[in-house]
Amino acid sequence: MPVAANDVIKRIVDDRLLGSDNLMDFRAEIDDAARFFRAWMDRPMEIGAIAPSGAALAAAVASEVDETADGLVIELGPGTGAVTHALLQHGIAPERLVLIEFNDYFCDLLRQRYPGVQIVQGDAYHLARCLDGLGLPLASAVVSGLPLYSRPVRERISLLRDAFAYMERGAPFIQFTYAVTSPIPRATPGVISNGSAPVWLNLPPARIWTYRDATRIA
Ligand SMILES: C[S@@+](CC[C@H](N)C(=O)[O-])C[C@H]1O[C@@H](n2cnc3c(N)ncnc32)[C@H](O)[C@@H]1O
Repeated sequence: MPVAANDVIKRIVDDRLLGSDNLMDFRAEIDDAARFFRAWMDRPMEIGAIAPSGAALAAAVASEVDETADGLVIELGPGTGAVTHALLQHGIAPERLVLIEFNDYFCDLLRQRYPGVQIVQGDAYHLARCLDGLGLPLASAVVSGLPLYSRPVRERISLLRDAFAYMERGAPFIQFTYAVTSPIPRATPGVISNGSAPVWLNLPPARIWTYRDATRIA
């Protein structure tokens, strides 16, 4: 986005927010939206959305994670940290969080914003390269904001099966999508899937899918 256009958007939002207690939060949101949009212009298929998830969707995703469990929570494709923030708000301790993000600009931002959270810069479709050698315990949940539909279905299924190997028995792989259908076909052998009702408060409305390894359910 040209810098001038960015400044105009900021000014409009600032004007609307004069007197708000949450001006700083709103400024940060607008900055994130501008960063995200620029990243999307450079690599639309990789970023997969023109703006970060809204607070309602991020909170709905985070609420699928058991905050009382002990295991890690691995987040794939955290972007500017909309869902990361919601996970922390939900009660997940920073030291339980491991973020895997491709984009170097987002990684730098996440490191500044979330000290204490482990950030791995790498390709989530190569989980072994990202995680092996770190000596981490198994995850009690994986949360993904990856734009799965930009990849062939066999790569999506392969990512899910790879993730199951790093997860505790029965742990959920939580994926949100703007599509109506599940990015992992529902008839995929060995996978139990559940879809949420649409989260209407997000624009565009999104759905949250939860996948579990059917071969490791008690
Ligand atoms: C749709 S955005 C979601 C961002 C954030 N979770 C949110 O809800 O606002 C997708 C994110 O996944 C990242 N991403 C895409 N492909 C990736 C890959 N193969 N490995 C790691 N991160 C990836 C992008 O850089 C981007 O930050």
